[in-house]
Amino acid sequence: MLNFTYKYFLKRLLFLLNPEVAHKLVENLLYLFPKNLFKFIFGYKFNSKISTQIFNNKIPSPIGIAAGMDKNFKSTPNYLNLGFGFSVVGTVMIEPRKGNPKPRLIRDKSNNELINSLSFPSEGSKAILKRLNSNSALKKRLIISVSGKSEEEIIENILLFENYCFALEINISSPNTSDLKKFVNEKSIYSILNKSRKVTKMPIFIKLPRIDEINYYEELIRPIKKFPDVGVVLSNTLPIDDKRLKVGKGGKSGASLFESTLKILRYVRKSHPEIVIMCSGGISSSEQVRILLNEGANALQIYTSLVYKGPGIIKELNNGLLNN
Ligand SMILES: Cc1cc2nc3c(=O)[nH]c(=O)nc-3n(C[C@H](O)[C@H](O)[C@H](O)COP(=O)(O)O)c2cc1C
Repeated sequence: MLNFTYKYFLKRLLFLLNPEVAHKLVENLLYLFPKNLFKFIFGYKFNSKISTQIFNNKIPSPIGIAAGMDKNFKSTPNYLNLGFGFSVVGTVMIEPRKGNPKPRLIRDKSNNELINSLSFPSEGSKAILKRLNSNSALKKRLIISVSGKSEEEIIENILLFENYCFALEINISSPNTSDLKKFVNEKSIYSILNKSRKVTKMPIFIKLPRIDEINYYEELIRPIKKFPDVGVVLSNTLPIDDKRLKVGKGGKSGASLFESTLKILRYVRKSHPEIVIMCSGGISSSEQVRILLNEGANALQIYTSLVYKGPGIIKELNNGLLNN
């Protein structure tokens, strides 16, 4: 029903709008729709057989929303009602940010892809904390994605959110934010984690970039293994040049990323059987979910397939897990 309504009605309307306008519209509708009524109409009843543990925290499904979908913690409560096991809120920096100049989000409809150069537009940590305060019951299904211009800013941001989620995701991998490139090396990851572990015991995920040179993951994983309760998200969008974006380059997401997501997962899992891995990139079908979980992913995050296939996708993926 939800799939049909989205494909033949909602998606057609939304795709007539500029992608950022469409995103804001959906976000605000979900924000304003009363949670209990939404749950009554669209609520997904989880089967305990698909629940899983991430760092001792039980989530009702291993499939969640990837960072960027809900940068300001507005749509998450109702997305969770639809059947997502968890949601990664953010990425948020401490101060409010406008992000890059527009146009900065493009649909590539023929390939079921998006290209973005947003660079973390968000209301900033304080505004999000206010909303989180009135939704404390969701803590066990939230990961907050934080970033910062310096290691100190990242640590400060972690401390703001540590009581509002079951894990933190440190985003050092957006191809659209030049400040982050300096963190993508063994020494900086070690330093960020070392500083974090001095102030918090919270589980932490490091979201790594999508890198062609696959051996480089070995170097980036090395510091991660030195600390307890640290996992990885593999991986962010694919950096590309695109003249349609005002800044001329951005990150590609969607269908074509799946093969590289699988390749990176296989590479990392082979040498690190114990590390907690979340996969992100191009996931859109039950078969892909099955493959990634069989190859050792602990949980999965989706973004672009939600835009192209609509909200019914999570029911389809959860039900697919039950039939495996
Ligand atoms: C419009 C847009 C905004 C995004 N914003 C963020 C972000 O703020 N932080 C982040 O870590 N990833 C961000 N991402 C990357 C997604 O979280 C995800 O890793 C990526 O899109 C690949 O997954 P997908 O193919 O399922 O979309 C964004 C992606 C898109 C399309």
